[in-house]
Amino acid sequence: MVRTIVVGCSNGVDLGRSIARRLGVPFSPLLTQRFPDGELKIKFSVPLGKRHIILVQTLHPPNEELMELVFAIHTAKELGAKVTAVVPYMAYLRQDRRFHPGECKSNSIAAGLLSAADCVVTIDPHLHRVKHLKEIFHKPVITLSANSLIATFIKKHYHKEIIIGPDEESYQWANRIAEQVKAHAVVLKKKRFGSRKVSIKIKGDVDIKGKTVVIVDDIISSGHTMMETIKECRRLGAKRVICITVHGIFAEDALRKIRKLGATVHATNTVQNDVADIDVAGIIADSLR
Ligand code: R5P
Repeated sequence: MVRTIVVGCSNGVDLGRSIARRLGVPFSPLLTQRFPDGELKIKFSVPLGKRHIILVQTLHPPNEELMELVFAIHTAKELGAKVTAVVPYMAYLRQDRRFHPGECKSNSIAAGLLSAADCVVTIDPHLHRVKHLKEIFHKPVITLSANSLIATFIKKHYHKEIIIGPDEESYQWANRIAEQVKAHAVVLKKKRFGSRKVSIKIKGDVDIKGKTVVIVDDIISSGHTMMETIKECRRLGAKRVICITVHGIFAEDALRKIRKLGATVHATNTVQNDVADIDVAGIIADSLR
């Protein structure tokens, strides 16, 4: 029988440990070293030959973490392992087309690099123009969703609130979560003018006056989408606003800015942050059994 070992890259130690515990297999952290010039060296401290190595690395921050993961995948493959790369948050997917002449399509470049693994597992990848990750990966990709975990969290901590999706892309999350919570879903209309400027408007006749709303989105990055959605909900008289995201990146102090608007914020632990109270380790482990 092939022995399975979970290896936590530097941004996947806690989740990796938890996945290993659930699978009942050993855990080993990847060793990393920096040279004076900043170059990275990685080292496995377990034998790799004829093993199944589950590498865990989330890609926020995205750059050095991606390089570390690519080095780890290639090294494990060279040393004879079967490699599954677990990437709870997959960065670069929003750059899914050449928006201006001469730009790179980062999503397919990143996917090409990670396709050195035998299989990739990720959670709620941001899919817009690319409809499925198999369009850009050359190897099998398992895409999981945190929808049920979020729905269970809402049922446990809140009542049958109105579920709000900030834009058409969030329809898939808002609608499925609302179905499970047995609540009403409302999807708003977003216009993006730049990475830090969006406008959000409610469509049609929606009564949220005096109610509690739960805004759900796949990613909170700069937080502008969430902040404009909170303001729109408040303008329409919402009494209490809860924000839940799968991937809480919270760039540029976004968590503090969102909280300053009086909203309560929750996220899953695909990215480490102060509000990561929805644990995805169980769904990842289940997908690997
Ligand atoms: C985009 O369509 C996504 O679903 C999120 O709404 C977006 O990435 C959030 O970005 P930000 O927090 O920077 O507004």
